[in-house]
Amino acid sequence: MDDEIAVIGVSTARSAVFKGGRINSAQIARVRERLAGVGEGVIKLVVTHHPFDLPPGHEPRAIVGRARLAMQAFAACGADILLAGHLHTSHVGDTTARYAIERFAALVVQAGTATSIRARGEVNSFNVLHIAGSRVRVERYGWDGADFALAGGDTFERTTKGWRRKLAA
Ligand SMILES: [Fe+2]
Repeated sequence: MDDEIAVIGVSTARSAVFKGGRINSAQIARVRERLAGVGEGVIKLVVTHHPFDLPPGHEPRAIVGRARLAMQAFAACGADILLAGHLHTSHVGDTTARYAIERFAALVVQAGTATSIRARGEVNSFNVLHIAGSRVRVERYGWDGADFALAGGDTFERTTKGWRRKLAA
């Protein structure tokens, strides 16, 4: 944590039996407690392996177990950005459609595959988040055969209803 961001990691990996991963009530309580104490102007990020939302075409069971319970706590403590991997697919969205919590929408930033060969049809990629107050720019860098190059980006703003994509002017 510094003056601008607070980052908390949660291990959602479980035994090989639970392929989708899970967050338990002790972990949820810890995130809520730690992030609730963070000042208003600080952007709060939660990092998990398994995702809280899905790009189109992925099965719902890929979502981390107890996600709804966790999201209520994330809303209560004002989590801003949820970072995840696992799917090997890049995607940026927000929690509005899946969780429908009033006056709350966290950004959901899904990383692709940076270095492994499990690329699932996408080039290797990683995301860079530029955070400036209540505005976040998410940039995606993709492998072009020789190097990672800027391949796209979106800007989001924190509104009274949560995070929203900023439409190009
Ligand atoms: Fe995984």
